[in-house]
Amino acid sequence: MTDPSRVAIVTGAAQGIGRRTAELLAERGFALALSDLRQAHDTRRAVQEHGAEVLEFAGDISDEDVVTRFARAVKERWGRADVLVNNAGISFIAPAENVTAAEFRRVLEINLLAPFLLAKAFGTMMLAQGSGSIVNVASVAGLVGIADRAAYNSSKHGLVGLTRTLAAEWGGRGVRVNAVCPGWVKTEMDAADQAGGGYTDADITGRVPMGRFASTEDIAKAIAFLADSSQSAFVNGQALAVDGGWTADGSWESLRLRHR
Ligand SMILES: NC(=O)c1ccc[n+]([C@@H]2O[C@H](COP(=O)([O-])OP(=O)(O)OC[C@H]3O[C@@H](n4cnc5c(N)ncnc54)[C@H](O)[C@@H]3O)[C@@H](O)[C@H]2O)c1
Repeated sequence: MTDPSRVAIVTGAAQGIGRRTAELLAERGFALALSDLRQAHDTRRAVQEHGAEVLEFAGDISDEDVVTRFARAVKERWGRADVLVNNAGISFIAPAENVTAAEFRRVLEINLLAPFLLAKAFGTMMLAQGSGSIVNVASVAGLVGIADRAAYNSSKHGLVGLTRTLAAEWGGRGVRVNAVCPGWVKTEMDAADQAGGGYTDADITGRVPMGRFASTEDIAKAIAFLADSSQSAFVNGQALAVDGGWTADGSWESLRLRHR
């Protein structure tokens, strides 16, 4: 059953990583506030099967008024916020020389400004409580450069920087801030990127030492670890790669494949 003293907010909860994260946090006893552009009905049903209390909120989180109304709704419902998972994000693949200012700005607004606005709104509640955990879903693209992703990689590098800065600023007042950096995950985002000709399954599985994509479960478990202060009480300001070894591996391709 839900423990109303453990309230988790998950953005981008309608599908993919956000959906599986919401389900896992519900399994672990959190009440859930779900945010997405649309109502996250399927996630709501799945979460309720675990007996969790749920609040759904639809709106574009790059709009500060939307974030303010979302935080107010959570405060009115439960009076607290214990975990914020900044998961919502968009992909954008294009050669740098073709990216317009408007496109670059839009990626930053959703992938970097929105997590800041949410951290500010819910972090304020956490600081008043003297406890809380914020988990930002960045990417391996927040740790290394990957061609054709100037806007996306800038946003994710920025999100890692925001993570470290808020950890330094708020850690002394009981609010931990960490990031999870997934490698490639089989979600709708991956399907859309592959449909656009960005890469193939073989490109990814050949490059990852562990030879596979991440599952949403792999990522959700890392998020849940960082979210839960009974599991990760002294972990603050970290960017945890969950990438099967991608960012650790400097091997050339034939050397890597020789070890399969
Ligand atoms: N899939 C991958 O391979 C991968 C790898 C590394 C990092 N990530 C990151 O993980 C996060 C989740 O990715 P996913 O693969 O589950 O993506 P997804 O596209 O399947 O789901 C993202 C969700 O975010 C929502 N969203 C997008 N913009 C929004 C906005 N402005 N306001 C509110 N909701 C919004 C979408 O409606 C969608 O439901 C993203 O931040 C993504 O950058 C994904």
